[in-house]
Amino acid sequence: MPLSNRHLLGLYGIPREDIQLILDTSSTFREVLERPIKKVPTLTGKTIVNLFFENSTRTRISFELAQKRLSADTVNFSTSMSSTKKGETFKDTVKNIEAMKIDMIVVRHQSAGVPHFLTKISNANIINAGDGRHEHPTQALLDMYSIREKFKSFEGLRLCIVGDIAHSRVALSNIHGLITMGAKVSVCGPPTMIPRGIESLGVKVLHSIDKAIQENDVLNVLRIQLERKAGTNIPSVREYHNYFGITAERIEKNNPNIVILHPGPINRGVELSSEVADGPYQIILNQVTNGVAVRMAVLYLLGTL
Ligand code: CP
Repeated sequence: MPLSNRHLLGLYGIPREDIQLILDTSSTFREVLERPIKKVPTLTGKTIVNLFFENSTRTRISFELAQKRLSADTVNFSTSMSSTKKGETFKDTVKNIEAMKIDMIVVRHQSAGVPHFLTKISNANIINAGDGRHEHPTQALLDMYSIREKFKSFEGLRLCIVGDIAHSRVALSNIHGLITMGAKVSVCGPPTMIPRGIESLGVKVLHSIDKAIQENDVLNVLRIQLERKAGTNIPSVREYHNYFGITAERIEKNNPNIVILHPGPINRGVELSSEVADGPYQIILNQVTNGVAVRMAVLYLLGTL
């Protein structure tokens, strides 16, 4: 069965069967990544543009590698080197790129809704690589793939998203995807970082990190997004670390079986101690490796619809 939509804009409203298909297809590509020659001809002849209007290390390199592993032709766009610096509008930029005959666009933008807008002005398949505080679907899918590798099923799995929920597109995509797949999702952080009414999405709200560690199988720990003014919601990062930082001592006291995820980049000594960031409870670099396979799956499924 193909995916139900020709774009991947978010995990809100995405059918369970689509998530299942992406995760199952990712397993096939994860195996390709272990081969001596990590390349398949699947998207030969397809042209993909990576439109990144915001900084990225993981997502951008992961998408580019995924495209190369699938034998697609790829082009990278970055704002600092483009004619947007001369005043060209976003729409004109996209129309000009599209005139060069492209098939897919991967877009990251600081404004929520830009991937949706692209679907109105372009005929290409659109993949959201993070739009403002809205969604980051491939991050949530790679988180889910990494969780499934460890726990086999989402049914009844208890997962808490910790930290700056209010500024996080990763949180929203994780909430939608995990609830659709049958997990029990909670969020934990200071009240100033938890959006009012978030319970209506089906999540429980916690304000004690010790309780969050005790009650869950997995913590997905978010970065405090200082560039999005998250610092104004807490007295100081030191204070945040004292109340909500994940330390080895807290894990050992409350639940040594907990599995720690983090989408990166990490603020070491703020949301995670370095001991935890590099220690035995986390699967952070597995997430990064799995991200390439998950993005290969998404590109393949959309590119061959
Ligand atoms: N997780 C994530 O989106 O990281 P980058 O901002 O480095 O892409």
